[in-house]
Amino acid sequence: MKKLWLFLPIFLFGSEDFITDLEYGQMLYKNPRGISCASCHGLKGEGKVIVSYLKKNKERVTIYGSDIRQISLSKLKATVARNHPIMPKYYLTTEEVTAIYYYIQMINQKDKGDIE
Ligand code: HEC
Repeated sequence: MKKLWLFLPIFLFGSEDFITDLEYGQMLYKNPRGISCASCHGLKGEGKVIVSYLKKNKERVTIYGSDIRQISLSKLKATVARNHPIMPKYYLTTEEVTAIYYYIQMINQKDKGDIE
């Protein structure tokens, strides 16, 4: 039993990446600061209808979360850090935005809906 402790450092430090970059990006995309990008931009960044309602019972108003699959990394960085009428402003590090960017690129490239 005591010998188990000898192996503990291997479990803790043996493998550098507990989660892959893809998983890290997915985690961020789905829950950055508690508000998921997916809830407004779809699971793969393909965009979706956020809300659609009748204004004064006449005119239909539809609000879309845009398709962000083709967005460049620099545009993504600039967008998340800005104020918007609907989209929240996120205080994400460069590393976090980059992970989100690669996540969107990877899932669309492989055309995998999800990793799970
Ligand atoms: C509450 C809904 C909502 C959430 C959550 C949200 N967005 Fe958005 N986003 C929008 C809407 C609506 C627009 C388009 C209009 C605007 O700029 O406000 C937009 C625009 C964008 C654009 C610019 C698209 C273009 O073509 O110019 C990018 C990039 C983007 N969002 C990325 C993200 C990322 C990444 C996240 C998560 C960190 C996120 N959004 C979370 C609603 C949302």
